[in-house]
Amino acid sequence: MPFLLQYMAKITNFQTKANLWVLVVSTGMAILMCLTGLMLKDFFETPMPATLRRAKTKFIFNNSEFCYSPSEEIDHRKNVIVIVLSARSHFKQRNLVRLTYGSVRTANNVNILRVAFMLGNADGEREEKTDEKHLRAEMKEFGDIVIGDFVDSYRNLTLKTIMAYEWLKTYCVYADIVVKTDDDVMINIFQLTKMLNEWPTTQFKSSNIWCMIHSNEKTIEDADSKYYASREEFPDGIFPNHCSGLAYVTTMVVIERTLEEIFKSFPGYVCTHEDVFMTAIIPQQINSTSKWFWPTANHITLINRRKEWFTYDLEQMKDTLLVNVLRQSAVLLKDVKRIRKRYNETIFYLVAHTDDYNILYIRLWQTLQKIFTD
Ligand SMILES: *[C@@H]1O[C@H](CO)[C@@H](O)[C@H](O)[C@H]1NC(C)=O
Ligand SMILES: *[C@@H]1O[C@H](CO)[C@@H](O)[C@H](O)[C@H]1NC(C)=O
Ligand SMILES: *[C@@H]1O[C@H](CO)[C@@H](O)[C@H](O)[C@H]1NC(C)=O
Ligand SMILES: *[C@@H]1O[C@H](CO)[C@@H](O)[C@H](O)[C@H]1NC(C)=O
Repeated sequence: MPFLLQYMAKITNFQTKANLWVLVVSTGMAILMCLTGLMLKDFFETPMPATLRRAKTKFIFNNSEFCYSPSEEIDHRKNVIVIVLSARSHFKQRNLVRLTYGSVRTANNVNILRVAFMLGNADGEREEKTDEKHLRAEMKEFGDIVIGDFVDSYRNLTLKTIMAYEWLKTYCVYADIVVKTDDDVMINIFQLTKMLNEWPTTQFKSSNIWCMIHSNEKTIEDADSKYYASREEFPDGIFPNHCSGLAYVTTMVVIERTLEEIFKSFPGYVCTHEDVFMTAIIPQQINSTSKWFWPTANHITLINRRKEWFTYDLEQMKDTLLVNVLRQSAVLLKDVKRIRKRYNETIFYLVAHTDDYNILYIRLWQTLQKIFTD
């Protein structure tokens, strides 16, 4: 110890012994406070018995090799993974994704590691019946599907997202940023990567979820609706502010913290509204249990990016410009210019399930390519 003090005196250039003692005493006190803190932390944070934790999702097909590990030369780039929640029978939607934005591996210095489709293992009662053989063949041909052991129904969507998070944590550790979306959404991958490329690196380790926030959204109390939410769950008849499930962007930090909270606090029941559960109920729970005494982890924060997500036009067919242009036989230069002007910041487009879905989807992609790759 005296040796250490001498050494410290040397390097810190303290003039008097008194100063040195102040240093020693305050360091000692700091250590003592830290130890007390640690003890208190353990006292308040009784470890959860293993049996009370939520069971992990059983994978029917874990596709463990699928997530691409970037080679060293491009490792410094930002890595994005796109997770698409898809219904088993939606062969058409998945194929269109593969043919369009899903075919882009890199843009604007950002790697798109993979576009992975998440499916359940059996058709839900209300869902379309799936041709099993066709599905097996698709899995074999494209290798981009992950299957979990649960009924694939709208009201089980939360289970699907939890599975996706587990899959990411186990099999896709290279990802920095996760985009969660649905199989009827078109992603403007050029604008997305451009935005990500401009973000400071701190964002990639943050606890943020970027999305279009739904505020004060009323619940549906018709018990026959697939969107039904009971008064027991939401006594005010209003959902807490949450991200639109259409698409949100988040970090692996959020994915891991969300999973940890679900395993710890929701061993059985999960809310059927996956967007509300994953982006409101869990983040609020994490926020409320963040320790005030011990250095707290950052709160989970929803960041409203309405411009990028302002996309309901196509679904409701209110946006005549876009829909008319997409329904023409060729995309004209003057239209490209008009669309570029109006949509230069839009990233996510929800495409309506009309009879000409395929054509609209492909044309939208061709138009975006024209606008953003020239
Ligand atoms: C993933 O699936 C394969 C094939 O079923 C299995 O051998 C492997 O153990 C699974 N991986 C993990 C981590 O469970
Ligand atoms: C959700 O999945 C579980 C497990 O497969 C199943 O028992 C349940 O019926 C499903 N719920 C709905 C609403 O489909
Ligand atoms: C979590 O807490 C922070 C800080 O109070 C707040 O800004 C943020 O909106 C909260 N997140 C949610 C999802 O409520
Ligand atoms: C989109 O266009 C507006 C108006 O011209 C401009 O202010 C904005 O910076 C553009 N956004 C992007 C992402 O290029």
